[in-house]
Amino acid sequence: MANQNGSGTATRVRRNNSTETKASMPTDAEAEEEAEETTEAEDYMSRPTPYYDKDGITIYCGDNVEVLRTFDADSIDLTVTSPPYDNLRTYGGHSWDFEGVAQQLWRVMKPGGVVVWVVADATVDGSETGTSFRQALRFKEIGFRLHDTMIWEKPEPAFYDPRRYGAVFEYMFVLSNGEPNTFDPILKQNVTAGNKLGATYKRNSSGVSVVSVANEGKRRNKYGAIRNVWYVINNDNSRHPACFPEALARDHILSWSNEGDVVLDCFNGSGTTTKMARAMGRRGIGIEINRDYCEIAANRLRQKVLF
Ligand SMILES: C[S@@+](CC[C@H](N)C(=O)[O-])C[C@H]1O[C@@H](n2cnc3c(N)ncnc32)[C@H](O)[C@@H]1O
Repeated sequence: MANQNGSGTATRVRRNNSTETKASMPTDAEAEEEAEETTEAEDYMSRPTPYYDKDGITIYCGDNVEVLRTFDADSIDLTVTSPPYDNLRTYGGHSWDFEGVAQQLWRVMKPGGVVVWVVADATVDGSETGTSFRQALRFKEIGFRLHDTMIWEKPEPAFYDPRRYGAVFEYMFVLSNGEPNTFDPILKQNVTAGNKLGATYKRNSSGVSVVSVANEGKRRNKYGAIRNVWYVINNDNSRHPACFPEALARDHILSWSNEGDVVLDCFNGSGTTTKMARAMGRRGIGIEINRDYCEIAANRLRQKVLF
């Protein structure tokens, strides 16, 4: 990893080169002005002191765009994150900048890196906002591939509305910087394991069904990849108003990264992604603006139990 330092987090970007040689000595006024500029630039580009930094997991308490700006380009393997959805919750009144986050993610993700963006829409004046779609399409314009639109299915709607079916899902947009480096799918046992495989058919442009793979002599494998709708129960709502299920973060980490990779959550909340990154042998970086949530995340990491 060319852009990583020893602790596994991206290194600080320096704008000013202290070894730069000058053709002539600056005047006092010039030197003073330069010193002021240097301080401003250094302040702007300095990585904040981590709130927590242990066992390959680092948590920064601050605005995600400001913190991401201090990371090296091409330094993150996987991002698993969930931004605030429209204005559904304020998390202490902090604001965030979608365009800034999207541009920074594009800069810091490695080629082949993956961003899992978990999001849903608010309903305003009877209509869903469509913010989630706009975000996914904007990521595409910036350069990401919309590799997959996955669904997180939940057992119960968050609220009941007599005018429509109960909403039980959120989008999990899987965005990638080119072809994903890693896809290690979660497997399930095939009920028809060992059975002879029939041919696979595909319709051609005239709508006629034609054999695409003959599958002669092949038998169904014992295991196959699960589908892209994940039913995951969220039984953890005590720490944060919108905490991920640990299983959801874990399964994305297993699917799209390898041991030792760097996994980011730039809306870290109570730190589910960073906790599961550590549990799965990855390095982790969390960025969260609300100090109370940084403390919850740090406390979860301080616990001895990995799960
Ligand atoms: C949907 S929650 C994420 C919850 C997280 N997945 C978990 O498991 O706890 C979104 C989080 O983004 C944080 N946030 C909002 N604006 C932010 C900003 N500008 N920079 C960093 N974090 C921000 C909120 O405080 C909130 O904790």
